[in-house]
Amino acid sequence: MELTLAEERILDGEEGYAHQLAMKIVVKLGEIFAADRLIPITSAHISGASYKTIGDAPIEFLEDLVKNGARASVKATLNPVGFDLHDYKNWSLSQTIIEKQKLIIRLYEALNIQPILSCTPYYFEELSLGDHVAFSESSACVYTNSVIGARTNREGGPSALASAIIGKTANYGLHITELRQPKLLVEVETPPKEYAEFGMLGTYVGRLARDHIPIFQGIRTATNNQLKYLGAGLASTGMVAMFHMRGITPEVQKIDIKECCEKITITQDELNNELHKLSTTDSIPDLIFIGCPHCSLQEIQEIAAYLRHKKVRADLKLWICTSQAIKEVAQEEIEMIENAGAKVICDTCIVVAYLEQLGIKTMMTSSAKAANYTPHFCDIDSVMNTVQGCLDTATTKLKDI
Ligand code: F3S
Repeated sequence: MELTLAEERILDGEEGYAHQLAMKIVVKLGEIFAADRLIPITSAHISGASYKTIGDAPIEFLEDLVKNGARASVKATLNPVGFDLHDYKNWSLSQTIIEKQKLIIRLYEALNIQPILSCTPYYFEELSLGDHVAFSESSACVYTNSVIGARTNREGGPSALASAIIGKTANYGLHITELRQPKLLVEVETPPKEYAEFGMLGTYVGRLARDHIPIFQGIRTATNNQLKYLGAGLASTGMVAMFHMRGITPEVQKIDIKECCEKITITQDELNNELHKLSTTDSIPDLIFIGCPHCSLQEIQEIAAYLRHKKVRADLKLWICTSQAIKEVAQEEIEMIENAGAKVICDTCIVVAYLEQLGIKTMMTSSAKAANYTPHFCDIDSVMNTVQGCLDTATTKLKDI
């Protein structure tokens, strides 16, 4: 890989230990993947911020970087953490957990990483077709590559952080136009309509696609929110970092579909089976969860409209997960949701939160990614349902009370 003189100097430690370390990480990755050079990025998004999932190990690493003057040189944002910073007093968390989590956030802030604590960084920055970024949240990678047409590989937390510090990434994988071509043609017999159906199409195809880029055909219309759920599902069961959809995603016109080597057809029966596959029990849930990835403003508005004349049942919890920033702009809708008895959770999510402390045993969700992850990461049962099904289960009409 060819480095510029300035990059060589950083690698030799002339700009200090922290920059040297960050450069070493990015260059090493570039060598592994046969990159020809480093390229500038416009932003970075860093995952691995929940104390529940990362534990103590990275704290020393982050402290070391801060001590040595490291700072993100481009816009950089942080993924969700282990609890809602504005509402954790009833979560029975130990003082150690609370302090360690807050320390991790402070360290990232000292590194000039903005604590948006959300997996939807694309809602808070102007990304354009062809921009190069370094994102390490898998659902954000797929959305950014596929829906926006900006370019990122599926980074790990440390490599995204290293890229944020030096403002560059290695030029390999999805940064290269030819490597953004699909390898798997997915013919969808019955187009999905609802967020949950898009998510389940994603988890189903993700298992088959592994790290190949799929191109979907047979879906006439899809909103960005629906594509968000499709991408999150794809990334949760496979190593997929991008998809195309005929007539919909921005780079699809440049694709010669005949070059796809493999074709599969997805039937309605297969998607129905996916619903059962993602459900580990048929017991009554004690938590109903919507918002993986974090809800957009439009989703919050849709949920608020549904809950307008409803009340959440007393025997279960309804959680809606979004970012603090969306919560702030949707105050009226948030009030309607909370008046119905649901909780709007920010800064965290079902997978990285300390659910065990709350005694949750069974969760119903409209997110295929959450249904896929929680039995393994949180040791709870999951029940997959549509958004409508989740909200119907969670509520009673006011006139019936
Ligand atoms: Fe986001 Fe957590 Fe789901 S980080 S994509 S809400 S698993």
